Amino acid sequence: MERIFSGVQPTGSLHLGNYLGAIRNWVRLQDDYECLFCVVDLHAVTVWQDPDVLKANTRHVAAAMLAAGIDPKKNIIFNQSQVPGHAELAWIFNCVARLGWLNRMTQFKEKAGKNKENASVGLYAYPNLMAADILLYKGTHVPVGEDQKQHLELARDIAQKFNNDFGVEYFPIVEPLIFGAATRVMSLRDGTSKMSKSDPSELSRISMTDDADAIAKKIRKAKTDPAALPASPKEFDDRPEAANLMGLYAALSDCEVEDVCKQFGGSEFSTFKQALADLAVEKLGPVQDEMRRLMADPAHVDGVLADGVARARAIAEPVLAEVHDIVGFLRPQGK
Ligand code: TRP
Repeated sequence: MERIFSGVQPTGSLHLGNYLGAIRNWVRLQDDYECLFCVVDLHAVTVWQDPDVLKANTRHVAAAMLAAGIDPKKNIIFNQSQVPGHAELAWIFNCVARLGWLNRMTQFKEKAGKNKENASVGLYAYPNLMAADILLYKGTHVPVGEDQKQHLELARDIAQKFNNDFGVEYFPIVEPLIFGAATRVMSLRDGTSKMSKSDPSELSRISMTDDADAIAKKIRKAKTDPAALPASPKEFDDRPEAANLMGLYAALSDCEVEDVCKQFGGSEFSTFKQALADLAVEKLGPVQDEMRRLMADPAHVDGVLADGVARARAIAEPVLAEVHDIVGFLRPQGK
């Protein structure tokens, strides 16, 4: 049985990178796998979140999943904190993973920055929680971007060590599902860094709540280089901004970057940007409209999450009971 788990943090507003790089691809998995799509609010609080904003963002991410076309009947859409097994299994994994393993995690180093002493313990243990997310459901496949590969590697190490330590073949060794290169969306201000919620410049990202004017303006202002557009992806090497914008066009129009190069090679950036802005508005508009409709009906979104929570718990509970037995936690019966 193949089972997919993936998660998105409810921090900041969702941007095009989250949509094209993750959520939109998940829609394509729902026919081939049993899928759990999780709003990872426990991960979000590894850095401080305003409580009301966190609640709103949790609904916002769930609404984006629904608007993108993820079917809440076929798949399980839920928020992490409401299934207590995540935190519980993460504790056990805190005791399986080694300090040395976590010390190698590059994302912690990036997120903690210079002031490591002041980072939360949760931020440090973040990858253990991520391993627990997946293994609580014995997930076999995880769609992730390049930046999460190291965390997935750690989840494999944890599963292996747990199995070895207790002499069982209990947890599966998860496999990454990596999508095509075109889905790695970079900053509009710097083609070498990922589009990110934490970039101080609003112009660096297209938010899923931006209206048509804002989308067009951000694309118009996107960084470029002075040359005409390349006629082949072979010329992308020292032209990260061209690569990013043409990759975006390919992702939005569901075609290969080669085709975008054939169509626009030799054109001026200004012509291409107009075409890209029109395409982005055309493709994102319906998804954004649906998100707005869902955000106006929080009871519906909460209903979807509540249903997902119940179904996720039903899978997680027997796994936790087995883990308790394997680890040696006495489960006293009787009154
Ligand atoms: N760390 C992931 C990210 O920031 C989110 C995440 C949490 C996740 N748990 C997960 C992704 C489990 C895949 C599987 O992108």
